[in-house]
Amino acid sequence: MYTATCVAPVNMALVKYWGKRNEQLILPINDSISMTLDTNEMCAKTTISASESFKQNCMWLNGEEVPFEENARLMRCLEGVQRLALANGDIKFPQSWKLHIASCNNFPTAAGLASSAAGYACLVYTLARLYELPITEELTTIARQGSGSACRSLHGGFVHWRKGELEDGTDSIAVPVVPWTHWPNMHMLILVVNDARKKTGSTKGMQLAVETSTLIQQRAKQVVPQRIKELTQAIHQRDFKAFAEITMRESNQLHAIALDTYPPCVYMNDVSHAISNFVHDFNEAAGELLAAYTFDAGPNACLYVLAEHVPRLLAAVQLAFPNDCEQSVEYLKGIPVPQLAQHLNGVGDAALAHVNPKNLLKYIIHTKVGKGPYQLSDDQSLLIDGLPLPK
Ligand code: DP6
Repeated sequence: MYTATCVAPVNMALVKYWGKRNEQLILPINDSISMTLDTNEMCAKTTISASESFKQNCMWLNGEEVPFEENARLMRCLEGVQRLALANGDIKFPQSWKLHIASCNNFPTAAGLASSAAGYACLVYTLARLYELPITEELTTIARQGSGSACRSLHGGFVHWRKGELEDGTDSIAVPVVPWTHWPNMHMLILVVNDARKKTGSTKGMQLAVETSTLIQQRAKQVVPQRIKELTQAIHQRDFKAFAEITMRESNQLHAIALDTYPPCVYMNDVSHAISNFVHDFNEAAGELLAAYTFDAGPNACLYVLAEHVPRLLAAVQLAFPNDCEQSVEYLKGIPVPQLAQHLNGVGDAALAHVNPKNLLKYIIHTKVGKGPYQLSDDQSLLIDGLPLPK
C-alpha cells in the first residue's frame, strides 16, 4: 500500500473570479488575485492510499462516505494527475489500483466559508505526492478543474490566476505574485454572520451572471485587467491604502454583478451591509484606510488588516457588534489578540456611533497570510489500513 497525507490552505479573493467561458474545463472570463490564508486556522487535510487489495474507489469527507465515481469534478482531477504520472514515466504502482481518500477541514463547513478551494487543492496536491510527481504549475490546471478557485490554493502568499487564452485551458494557470514572507503582517478577521438560509452557490450564480448580466462583460474586459495591474503593484509595494480600496471596490462590484443577474442573486444580507458601513466609518474615524472588507458568495465578511491594527479593529468590532459570547474562546477563534481589553477601554472611534443589535455575528476567526500546501508524515494519516479513523 502507498499512502500520502497533505494539508492545503483556503484562499480569499481580492480581485474576484466570477464567470466561466468554458463550464467543463472551468476556464474563467477574467483573471483573479487572492491571498492564501494560514493553515493553522483553516485548512483541508487529505490522506490518499492506493492498494492492490482495494475493491473500489472510496471517499470520506469529514468522516462521512461520499460518492466518488459519480463526482465528475473529482474524477477529472484524478484522471488529470494520472495522465501526468503516465507522462512522467516512472510509475510506482499500476493505475488499476483503487484509491481510498479521506479528507477533512479544520474549520466548520457549515459556516459557509470557502472549503471547496482548499479541498480540491489538497486532493490534487496529495495525489501528486502519492504518484511522486514534481510540483509544477501544471498541477494548478488540474486543481482548477475541481473548483476554479482551488488553483490559487496551490501557492502561498498572494496568487494570480491568469485566465489564459487557449481553448484547451493549458495556459489558465495560477502563479505566485509574492510569497507570504513579503507581507507577513497582513492579517484577516473573518466575521461569520449568523445566517441559516441556503443561497445560490458560486457555480450557478456565475453561470446565471454570464447568461443574463449586461455589466459582466464590461467588467471582464475593462475593469479587471486594470485592477489586476494596480493590485499587483500595491502588493509589491506593500501599499495598504491602494490594496484596501481596490479590494473593497472589487467586492462591491462582484455583488453589483450578482444583483444585475436576472433573476438577481443576493449574497450579502443586512448584517453584511452593516459590516461594510462599519468598515467605512472605522476608516473615516482613523483618518486613513486601516481595514478592507471583502465578501464572497455569502454573507460572511473577511476584513484585511495589518497586524498592528488588529487590536483596534477588533475592539471596534466588539463594540459595534456586541455579543453575549464575546469573552469565550468559541467566539474569538484563531490567533490570540492579547491587548484587546486595553483597546476596548480606549476606543473613541466614531465607528462606534452605531451600535448594532446583539448577537449578529456567530463568531470571529483571526488569521493571516500563509504558505501553500505541504506533506505530513505518515503518522498523521486520516486512514488506517485504508479505512478512516474512528470519529
Ligand atoms: C466568489 O471556485 O467556488 O469565491 O469554479 O464553479 O467551483 P467553481 O466556483 P468557485 O468560485 C469562487 C467564486 C468566489 C470568488 C473567488 O474566489 O475568486
